[in-house]
Amino acid sequence: EEDMSSLDKNPSLEDVLQQAHSSGYRLVYVFAPPRPANASPPKAGLPGLLVDVKTTYSVSLFSFDYAALCQKAFRTPGIRIRKHVVGSGFSNGLKQLAIDSGVYSRFKVDKDVPNEGFEGMFGAWISNSVNRTLADEVFIAYESTDDACSEELGFISVRKVGNSVSIGLLAVSDKARRRGIAYALLSRAMIWALEELGGDDKATATVVTQGANAPACACYERFGFQKETVQEVYHTWLPKHLTSPMVPADQANPIPFCKQHFTGKELVYATQVINSGLDSAANFTMQCAAKIQELIGGDSERVIMVPSGTAALEMAALLCELQPGDEVILPSYTFSSTANCFVLRGVVPVFVDVKFADLNIDETLIEAAITEKTKAICCVHYAGIPCEMDTICEIAKKHNLFVIEDAAQGFLSTYKGRQLGTIGDFGCYSFHYTKNIICGEGGALSINRNRKMAGRAMVLWE
Ligand SMILES: Cc1ncc(COP(=O)(O)O)c(C=O)c1O
Repeated sequence: EEDMSSLDKNPSLEDVLQQAHSSGYRLVYVFAPPRPANASPPKAGLPGLLVDVKTTYSVSLFSFDYAALCQKAFRTPGIRIRKHVVGSGFSNGLKQLAIDSGVYSRFKVDKDVPNEGFEGMFGAWISNSVNRTLADEVFIAYESTDDACSEELGFISVRKVGNSVSIGLLAVSDKARRRGIAYALLSRAMIWALEELGGDDKATATVVTQGANAPACACYERFGFQKETVQEVYHTWLPKHLTSPMVPADQANPIPFCKQHFTGKELVYATQVINSGLDSAANFTMQCAAKIQELIGGDSERVIMVPSGTAALEMAALLCELQPGDEVILPSYTFSSTANCFVLRGVVPVFVDVKFADLNIDETLIEAAITEKTKAICCVHYAGIPCEMDTICEIAKKHNLFVIEDAAQGFLSTYKGRQLGTIGDFGCYSFHYTKNIICGEGGALSINRNRKMAGRAMVLWE
């Protein structure tokens, strides 16, 4: 309702937000265009926090059986439904029910909207319904033993718009659930709708609800309403969305975080695996380990396929025979498994800061962290960028420490021409969905230049 005359005929959303901001507004709702309920949701692009998916339901008034409506509206045991009388005001109970009806609303979902604002809005909605500004009728359900009709158990507000009756607010008190009150109120509202629009065979009833309000959606659907459209609603706090571009270029056409590549033979091979009785040590697992060993080269004494990068790290920790109280040095920034595999054995993780340039362990800080309890250095090749392996291996040699390479993110990446994961004593790879080569979940452990350790690893694997 602001004066938008300074804007073009077809202002862009940025222009509207700019205008709203200069008019002093802090919060603007942006509604995505309604779409059919079965169409896919819009791609990211509208500004703000998604706070609501408004779902519109509708039903032909003539799909209802009048007698059945009367049965529910007037014969549901334990309750009595009355029309609210114009001018008779409303109780705090009714106001509270109105507020309760908004728990899933967009005003409640964004925690930055003050509670008083939310309550004020729903309080205003009921007061404007009983004074008939926003509704033509309000039907209230009372406990039937309650002759004075003092305690409201629920209510529904209705309004006629063209040849449709729309339901505004519907609320049932928490303590009166499962008594059929919502159906009774809906039935009463439909009877009113038929009285008002009975002559029009195209007449409908509609209701808009929040997609998040699953009980309400289920209730309307069971009552006979059908989903028509859904519509995303965003809260846009100003000026946040004026200072940063609304659709950053990389969001408009994002680079996929991870992408699956299929060669076309996967199903054939998967079928062969299943037909082989799922023997994990058979054909494919061994072929895979052999292929990886061929790829990473001669420093790898043995490659063992494991269920995940985490499992590879845990196996390396076991092979190092670490005891509770031992210490392992690792970077302060990594995935939790790098530390957990040691902590699970009672080992103390000693975190060393990472370098600003590549987020890998700062090799110049390692030596200062070594104590007589230190047994290993676990370095992480973050995002496939190699750690300074010459320095790390030199320190390890000097202090007689194992070197475990967490190469979860570094499969087939190299350091000075050498494959990551084959430089230290152990290399741990992950084939998790987000990694360089993926199989959903998966991992491998490379045991390097140590035949005895490779033999022990096979026993452990078994
Ligand atoms: C650095 C690092 N270490 C270990 C892991 C664990 O691998 P996985 O998810 O296969 O258990 C991951 C991957 O999530 C990782 O990024």
